[in-house]
Amino acid sequence: MDAVTIDFIHVFEPGTDPSRPPLLLLHGTGGDERDLLPFGRMVAPGAGLLSPRGRVLEGAMPRFFRRLAEGVFDEADLIARTHELADFIEVARRRYDLPAPVALGFSNGANIAASLLLLRPEALAGAVLLRAMSPFATPLKAELDGKQVLILSGALDPIIPAENAARLVRTLEEAGATVEQGILPTGHGLSQVDLSLAKDWIARL
Ligand code: MLT
Repeated sequence: MDAVTIDFIHVFEPGTDPSRPPLLLLHGTGGDERDLLPFGRMVAPGAGLLSPRGRVLEGAMPRFFRRLAEGVFDEADLIARTHELADFIEVARRRYDLPAPVALGFSNGANIAASLLLLRPEALAGAVLLRAMSPFATPLKAELDGKQVLILSGALDPIIPAENAARLVRTLEEAGATVEQGILPTGHGLSQVDLSLAKDWIARL
């Protein structure tokens, strides 16, 4: 038995290709642990998939941390929830015998993945951040040498100003991560282009 209980509702699909790192799938606001499974299977065929459901509710909508308004985060809650998620990853890795996963997060899930990179970098082998923004108003310093990150932003995204996504790229690069950013001619929603770019990037890892 694990000393710490896994108290995230989650799905785990074992991988069939041991050469692929597992993916940690992190859904957006109002999503759940099933949302990104098809996307995960398509971008990393044969990879194990670990997909928790966010434990915060905004009305009836699951999220990974509280916000005060759209794009304005409750940073104390974000920090606590980031550690909780990192602890879950540790327990799940022992239970399912997994190497460190690559996060694949969308929107709110991408934002907590960015926070994981900054606060608990050992939790992740890398990250694909779909429509991510800077999780903290004042950028944190971190040690991310050797981490690879793909950020896919929407040029027409009404939720995330281009300057905010650019700030996240800078923060991660200054911490030593190798960051690729794609700016797609789309809004906040995901497109076929996200899928093919994420798939290519994961194949190159
Ligand atoms: C967030 O709250 O994480 C971002 O505003 C994205 C969203 O979930 O709408």
